[in-house]
Formats: sequence, structure tokens, C-alpha cells
Amino acid sequence: MTRWSVRVDPAWSLQAWRERARLGLRHRVAPEQLDWLQDEESSLLDAPSLAGAPGPADAGATIGVPKAFVELAATCLCHRDPQRLSLLYRMLWRIAGGERGLLTNPADPDVLRAMALAQAVRRDSHKMKAFVRFREVPGEDDAFIAWFEPDHHIVDRVAPFFARRFAGMRWAILTPYRSASWDGQALAFGPGATQADAPVEDAREELWRTYYANIFNPARLNTKMMQQEMPARYWKHLPEATLLPALVRDAGDRVQEMHDREALAPQRRIPTRTIPLRGPATATGDALDALREAAAGCRRCPLWEPATQTVFGEGPRDAQVMLVGEQPGDTEDLSGHPFVGPAGQLLNRALAELGIDRSTLYLTNAVKHFRYERRGKKRIHSKPQVTHINACRPWLMAEIEQVSPKVIVCLGASAARAVFGSSFHLGRDRGQWHTLDDGTRGFATVHPSWVLRQPTGAAQEDAYRLLLGDLSTLAERSSSDTQHGVT
Ligand code: URA
Repeated sequence: MTRWSVRVDPAWSLQAWRERARLGLRHRVAPEQLDWLQDEESSLLDAPSLAGAPGPADAGATIGVPKAFVELAATCLCHRDPQRLSLLYRMLWRIAGGERGLLTNPADPDVLRAMALAQAVRRDSHKMKAFVRFREVPGEDDAFIAWFEPDHHIVDRVAPFFARRFAGMRWAILTPYRSASWDGQALAFGPGATQADAPVEDAREELWRTYYANIFNPARLNTKMMQQEMPARYWKHLPEATLLPALVRDAGDRVQEMHDREALAPQRRIPTRTIPLRGPATATGDALDALREAAAGCRRCPLWEPATQTVFGEGPRDAQVMLVGEQPGDTEDLSGHPFVGPAGQLLNRALAELGIDRSTLYLTNAVKHFRYERRGKKRIHSKPQVTHINACRPWLMAEIEQVSPKVIVCLGASAARAVFGSSFHLGRDRGQWHTLDDGTRGFATVHPSWVLRQPTGAAQEDAYRLLLGDLSTLAERSSSDTQHGVT
């Protein structure tokens, strides 16, 4: 039996593996004849490289495989197990050989193993999103570095998440095998680094610890769950970890104190204390309530100052549909609730007409403070600038992550920009479904305020029909509804 070898470089690249796998199939090299190599490995049996073999007879033939297999392969390839390369090739060989339904057989040992590898990669990716902590680079404005030690090769896979979440700052994430950096425009990848290359602590960490100690809810303490969710090996990089032993120890007494304390009357709306989200930036908050609490003290852009309060999103924590508006208006700013003014009423009318129950939706805004100009006694809405949208984006992204909706509907261009990025063009892309990197589906439509701004009754009616038409996709989907609207 002739043996061959193929090398995958970089070892986690779907494209690199796919090219080699195609080569194997075209040469009709059976899985047991192929040595898969990565990094500096050499073939134990000195098998020659298949890349140097004379061209196969069917060099031009295309090989179609189910999309689900490609997605599974992309995830598995990020696992460190060296066997994954040959496992995936064996599966591909079987699919190409006629077992097209292979993935639907969960009892198949190859499928089981691949699913387990993919699950481990997904879990590691989640941990990276949750436990990366950026530290300010001394002497540089708005530049942050984080050190992280993932179990698997997940940096390329997870970096786009951080680019979206922290679009407005310059950052780098260093890991032992690879680094990723973002300059505000583009992602770049480079070689691994050491922990000594990252700043150790920055001034914001004391603030972060103060924040963490404040949002830590002793009544919700579940140490078993905490250890599962935050394995000890991540602790050493978390500024809040030093607080945890004392917080856990005192939790019982604090719960008792909470019971004994009388309810306090609500006081100021904008806290005097700044609660930074990005110092060190955290990707997942403890919960939506903690985010709301932190957002109440947000000073990430100047809009907080003239505003009455932060208007955070509202709705079921597990809503399947999230509606994202532009920013609170005058009524929202005064009441503290999104979409309760004239635009909200128009939205209510449209939802009612389509038979969509507003209470099943999570409603929020791209910008959480009211931006306005004073004219006499009036406060006139003023469109938020890109800097305001970018500054507020971490809150929106954290809401999306916590609620994890299946569908996001953006009302207006500012919301669409915040969710789908700066290349989104409402005039061109309105009403079209898009899929975000994490699989969430969404589309953008016109803003109800735009409908209200139309100059004549007839123009307003047309604009309203446009909004209704776009939102009706939601209603159509929700007829096959499970719990909160969309499947
Ligand atoms: N317009 C918005 O975009 N959001 C609101 O909450 C109210 C009006």
C-alpha cells in the first residue's frame, strides 16, 4: 500500500485542510494511506508528500459535500487533537463515497467524536469571549492588550467577535500560539507571544474591582456553578478574582443584611460614580441587570451629561426577537423606557396590526442616551454621530449576547450600522435578511420616526406600509412560533 503525507498549515485553517483533502480525494488516496501532518511534524513512515505526486486523472472534478459538514470541519479544525485532520478526512471520504447522510447518524463513532471536538471548541470560544480582560497600554491613548491562554486554536475564530464588540478601540489579544490585533479598521494576525508582552495591571482595574464588588449579588451566589463557568485556570488573569474569596466568604452575612435593610427610595438617575465597561473590557456581564446597572453610569461619550438617564433595553431575557432603534427620544429620556413616545406608539400600531405581541420582544437602542439640541424650551432630537454609536456599541453587543435573540430587527440606519457594520446601506439593503457571525439572523427596516417625519398624509401612509411590509416577515415567521415569536 503506497503511503502519502499532506501538511496543513496553519493547522486550524479550513481552507488549508480542504485543499489537502480535495487532493487526497482526487488521487483516490484512502484514509488509511494518508498521513496528516501539522506544524513541524514529520511523517513517521517517511511518506512522500502528495502535493508532489503527478496530477490525478480527474483533477478538474468537483466534490460537493453538505454545508453542515463544512461547518463541522471548520469548528473541529480549531481543536488541538492531532487526530482531527484524519478523522475529518475519513468522514469526507465516506460522504464522497455515498454516505451523504453520515452526519444524521449520531451513533456513528466518527460523527460522535467530531461532535465532541466541535463542542470543546465552542466551549473554549465562549470562555475566551467571557474571560479576556484588556489592559491599557501605558503611554498610549485608547490602546489595550489582553493575554489569554486558550485550550484550542480559536483566536482566528473568536477575534471577529472582539472586533465587533470593541470596534472603537485599538486592541491586541496575545496568546501563546497566535496574536490578533485590531486597529479600528481591520483585523491582523501574528505569531504567539508571552504573558510578559502584555501589561500586568492598569489603573482602571481598581475601578473594575469596585464595580464587580458592587454588582456581585450574594443572594445569587452558586459556588458550584461559578466554578464550572469560571474554571480556576482563568482566574489568574481576572482582576476580580482576588475579590472572590472574601465575597464568597461574606455572602451569607450580606444576604441577612439585605433582608434586614429597609427599601431605599429611588434617588438620582445618573450615578455620580463612573462604571467603566472597558476597563478592563469584559465580554459577558454577570447578567442583564448588571449591565443595566453599569450602563446607568456610562460616560463613554459626552451624551450622558445633558441626558436625564440611560435608557437601557427592556423585554424578556429570553426574547427570540430583538428590535433595535436609534436612540431614546424626549419621552423615553424622561421616562427611562424605550419606545414609549410617538415613534413607540406608531411601532405599537404596526405590531398590533401584524398580530405581534410587543411584550414578547426585547426593545433597545443603538445609543442609550438622548441626543438633542435646545430650542427655547424644546429639546429637539439630533441624530447620533458615528462616535456615539461606536461608544455605545459594547452595551448593545452585551445585550445581544445576554438575550441571544434568534432575530434582530434594526429600525433605521443608525441601528443597522451598529449591528451590521459601517458598510450597511439602508437604501440598498433594507428588508434583506442577513446572518451575523454568531448565526443570529436579522434585517433592517425604516425607523418609525422617519414615517412620522413624512411631509404629507399620503407619504406617511406609504412609508407606514413600507415599515409594515418589512415587519410582516416577522409575523409570517412567528406563525410557526414556539414561545417568543420566531423559530
Ligand atoms: N426612537 C428610537 O429609536 N428609540 C426609542 O426608544 C424611541 C424613539
